Amino acid sequence: MTSLNQIRSTFIDFFKVRDHLVVPSAPLVPQDDPTLMFVNAGMVPFKNYFVGAATPPAPRAVSSQKCVRAGGKHNDLDNVGYTARHHTFFEMLGNFSFGDYFKEGAIESAWTLITKEFGLSKDKLLVTVFHTDEEAANLWKKIAGFSDDRIIRIATADNFWSMGDTGPCGPCSEIFIDQGPELAGGPPGSPDEDGDRFLEFWNLVFMQFERFEDGTERPLPKPQIDTGMGLERMAAIMQGVKSNYETDLFRTLIAASEDATGVKAEGAATPS
Ligand code: SER
Repeated sequence: MTSLNQIRSTFIDFFKVRDHLVVPSAPLVPQDDPTLMFVNAGMVPFKNYFVGAATPPAPRAVSSQKCVRAGGKHNDLDNVGYTARHHTFFEMLGNFSFGDYFKEGAIESAWTLITKEFGLSKDKLLVTVFHTDEEAANLWKKIAGFSDDRIIRIATADNFWSMGDTGPCGPCSEIFIDQGPELAGGPPGSPDEDGDRFLEFWNLVFMQFERFEDGTERPLPKPQIDTGMGLERMAAIMQGVKSNYETDLFRTLIAASEDATGVKAEGAATPS
């Protein structure tokens, strides 16, 4: 079985050998950003690099960032208990380009990592792009060999990522895996897209704008890349389970909770 720790290392090492600076996770409470209570994405510690307010230590970075989504613009709280993939605290694996490579480099490396290193089958994969982003759609055709039916064009904010009400933002392309018809749910953009069958596990954001309080946007000094892969979702995929709560990480935590409380996870008393 591929452990969650191995998946994290595989991701970090893949980008490290491709000249990305390995950056440790920042604390959950942003250090100098009054616009957020908690770090809600891997790019948050790099916000000032994206908007040109600070100089990055390297043109490329990779991290596994602890995140909380329990309020504000990215709020997963109401999904917990209803899906197999939400749990408000999670780790986000990400590669970042601060004005270095852009869409082609991001899509090429993502495709190599998931199909060659993680060995996912192309037949089960599909992607979304922002509806006006023909460039990204064409790159997916060229790099992954996808036909149009595997590239779903989405016109909503689901495919235009922003950190919060203000800050860096841009169109994005999400990578999904079809977990099979035994799970309920439809493809992205369909009425039952929230089901667990089609699992989004990696979001590639093409950062191009900074949004201000009055709703206006200005182009960033340079286009940039911000990606986010759900570590626990990737672990579920690689471990062949249909819920994050069945991965090695959660099983260990649940078993420790059972030991400490003397209560089985389903609510029954454990035999003494
Ligand atoms: N910032 C994007 C997200 O959180 C990609 O990292 O989905």
